Amino acid sequence: MRTVIKASLAAGMVLWVGVGVAGAAEEAAYVGTKMCMMCHKKPENGDQAGKWQASGHAKSFEVLGSAEAKAVGAKVGVDDPQKSGKCLKCHATAYAGTEGVKSEKVAVADGVSCESCHGAGANYKAMAVMKDKAKAVAAGMVDPATKSCAQCHNEQSPTWKADRYTTKDGKKVGFDVEQASEKIKHSNPNAKK
Ligand code: HEC
Ligand code: HEC
Ligand code: HEC
Ligand code: HEC
Repeated sequence: MRTVIKASLAAGMVLWVGVGVAGAAEEAAYVGTKMCMMCHKKPENGDQAGKWQASGHAKSFEVLGSAEAKAVGAKVGVDDPQKSGKCLKCHATAYAGTEGVKSEKVAVADGVSCESCHGAGANYKAMAVMKDKAKAVAAGMVDPATKSCAQCHNEQSPTWKADRYTTKDGKKVGFDVEQASEKIKHSNPNAKK
């Protein structure tokens, strides 16, 4: 239910006063990469923004414009990977694992950004919440330690190679969480653990 009061002003402006009744268990909204980067770019705290920008995840959209991507797409009937939900579901946070745009707040060009792994940020991005991990988690921040990378790194990926990684005991696997996490590491040396 939503009540809207419309009042015309003398100046000809229209003022809308919306009284929305929020639905129960509403999904948190995305806030976009710039918002997270604003507070997470200090070198002394690990410069998460810079490390993400230097990672393949930040280029996940760009890579869909390559000749290799076109060739991969052609095999599964996709003309333009940068426009297809079949690719963007794993290559762009804005698609949130679906075949359509789920949020306009995250630029498609930002590829796989902070909120793909840490959860949509609208309810935890405030400084007072962020500083208190328990509060942040309660507000929807995903503790990365418990987060599965396998929602994208799995055999549904058309470039999946079952022998991409070699585990410590010499086994060939498509994905090795330990080694992969090391490659994208952006921890904060000053975090109180
Ligand atoms: C207003 C500033 C601010 C914004 C905006 C912000 N953060 Fe934070 N964040 C902090 C502070 C302060 C901490 C506490 C630790 C630190 O200094 O890094 C923190 C901690 C974190 C942690 C570590 C939690 C833990 O203790 O394990 C993660 C992960 C994180 N932020 C992700 C994000 C993401 C993703 C976004 C965007 C949706 C975001 N932050 C937006 C200020 C911010
Ligand atoms: C299930 C998630 C998923 C889907 C769907 C997906 N990708 Fe990817 N893509 C990945 C992951 C994860 C990687 C990193 C390498 C790997 O493990 O395959 C990747 C890497 C790539 C690369 C870089 C090559 C490489 O080996 O690193 C290209 C090019 C690519 N994908 C094209 C596409 C195209 C084109 C589509 C749509 C037809 C698509 N992807 C759909 C997850 C996905
Ligand atoms: C929303 C989808 C998604 C999630 C979640 C995700 N990735 Fe990726 N990842 C990708 C895509 C797409 C690429 C390919 C990007 C490119 O080639 O530019 C990739 C590439 C990589 C690469 C370089 C290729 C490789 O396999 O060596 C590493 C390392 C990686 N991801 C680690 C991780 C880790 C660790 C996690 C979990 C903490 C994770 N990813 C979660 C989509 C995802
Ligand atoms: C592919 C998944 C992925 C992406 C994308 C990603 N992170 Fe993380 N993040 C992780 C994982 C896994 C950890 C825990 C391991 C580590 O510290 O590197 C982590 C840890 C963190 C921490 C905690 C550091 C600490 O030691 O307390 C902060 C802060 C953070 N990320 C912020 C960000 C911000 C900001 C972005 C975007 C600019 C981002 N992350 C993008 C997966 C991701």
